[in-house]
Amino acid sequence: MFNRIGVIGAGAMGRGIAQLFASSGQQVLIYDTRAEAIDDAIEFNRNLLKRSVAKGKLSEADFDATLQRMQPAAELSALKDCDLVIEAIVELLEVKQKLFDQLEALVSDTCVLATNTSSLSVTRIASSCRRPERVAGFHFFNPVPLMKIVEVVRGERTDEDVIQNLVALAEHAGHFAAITPDTPGFLVNHAGRAFGTEALRMLSEGVATPAQIDRILRDGPGFRMGPFELFDLTGLDVSHAVMESVYEQFYHDPRYTPSFIAAQRVAAGLLGRKTGQGFYRYQDGQKIEPQEAAPETVLIDRPFWLHSEDQALRANLAAVLEKAGATLENGEQPSAEAICLITPLGEDCTGALTRLQLPASRTLALDSLATWDNRRTLMRQPAAEAAVVAQARQALAADGVPVEVINDSPGFVIQRLIASVVNLGSEIAQKGIATPETLDRAIQLALGYPKGPLAFGEHYGKQTMLTILNNLQQSYGEPRYRPSPWLRRRVQLDLPLTTPDFQE
Ligand code: NAI
Repeated sequence: MFNRIGVIGAGAMGRGIAQLFASSGQQVLIYDTRAEAIDDAIEFNRNLLKRSVAKGKLSEADFDATLQRMQPAAELSALKDCDLVIEAIVELLEVKQKLFDQLEALVSDTCVLATNTSSLSVTRIASSCRRPERVAGFHFFNPVPLMKIVEVVRGERTDEDVIQNLVALAEHAGHFAAITPDTPGFLVNHAGRAFGTEALRMLSEGVATPAQIDRILRDGPGFRMGPFELFDLTGLDVSHAVMESVYEQFYHDPRYTPSFIAAQRVAAGLLGRKTGQGFYRYQDGQKIEPQEAAPETVLIDRPFWLHSEDQALRANLAAVLEKAGATLENGEQPSAEAICLITPLGEDCTGALTRLQLPASRTLALDSLATWDNRRTLMRQPAAEAAVVAQARQALAADGVPVEVINDSPGFVIQRLIASVVNLGSEIAQKGIATPETLDRAIQLALGYPKGPLAFGEHYGKQTMLTILNNLQQSYGEPRYRPSPWLRRRVQLDLPLTTPDFQE
């Protein structure tokens, strides 16, 4: 176990890392080229710890002892006896390499050098070191003490002992250590790409507004925040840079394609909360919640017809239609008047109604993956009559559950977004970037998803996910949606998505 830890860079991350390890019993020395940053960090941590005392979570004695374990280092040379040094300085390769070069001249041969880089290659940082086998990534999330996960990144030449010792230290401090090889975006920033890029893709196609997409994803799959709220919180400049960096590093694999929308909005300074306007507007730091458009009240004079094998959906639909004073037909084919509702998977409404030979003027689609009880999604297509859309919308909302009306999209909002998350998670498992268990746990802890990517796949059904992806790929003719072999094989073999490949 490491006992004497040097933390270099006393900014947002460095001060959090210092607090974490001082609290878990290690001696921590903090160094920064700006002396005032060190004082500020210690003062910041003192205030945080004081709050813990006030809340009764920390004793006065532990408060004193923790602060005592967190000391300023006036010079870099004060770190010479450390057995671990963690850098959290500016995100520039040459500056980090130069720092490690200086450190190697100071510290013992057994001292481990860790980098908190979020986007640079650990292997490249280590490449200019005399002993690259002692260099590893130790990638924390902000705020460090609260985000109970750290990625332990194995560079190409990192010693296994170094990895295991960092894992032990992280676990001792109460953090989950996600071991991952040195690949673009590591684990979390890689797995997180699907959520934002697919949402931007939908926005760019005019499928729905940012507020609609956010509401659908909060109320259906249960994300704490929709993708556009998340962009606004993180800052679109930061998110767009990560999207571009991961895309570039994977040599333009279309799974990761960033959006021209984000590039333009960054250029315009529409960065989110920090500039007062992003996908939403902010007043005094508070988001101004856009009003949900109230549906116009219309007379419902048509019966409905449903194309679906799902008996529960049929019963639910019949009940809400009854409340609306409308009927659900039971025939094999719709009557000449009926509003036809279809429930495609990964197909758009236009494609599905054409295949089923239904009348375009009165056929709409209902997302069977949306949660019936809290928000429904109704999808229209260019040939639908406005009066048909208005009647369907009103009838489906007759029990007070909100209905989002969106434009034609292969896979509505939930289907294509979740299938993208599951597919990318499957690719990550296939590439050995994380074990299935590590992947799901890390994503829940770091990104706050209600389920990990593979668990999402099981929840909605892995066969359903594969169908959605195959249809998306066919609709767009793009390799972006090609199903991962990991997913396809486990569907074909009917094995849980967490089943590992053979290992020697
Ligand atoms: P920050 O700007 O808040 O702090 C950086 C600190 O490093 C500053 O106090 C600066 O004076 C100091 N510094 C710069 N060059 C130095 C040098 N050569 N020697 C000593 N001190 C130096 O930055 P932040 O946000 O704490 O990020 C630090 C690192 O952590 C970066 O590599 C970043 O990519 C990474 N990171 C940041 C996350 C975040 O959410 N902010 C999350 C995960 C990783």
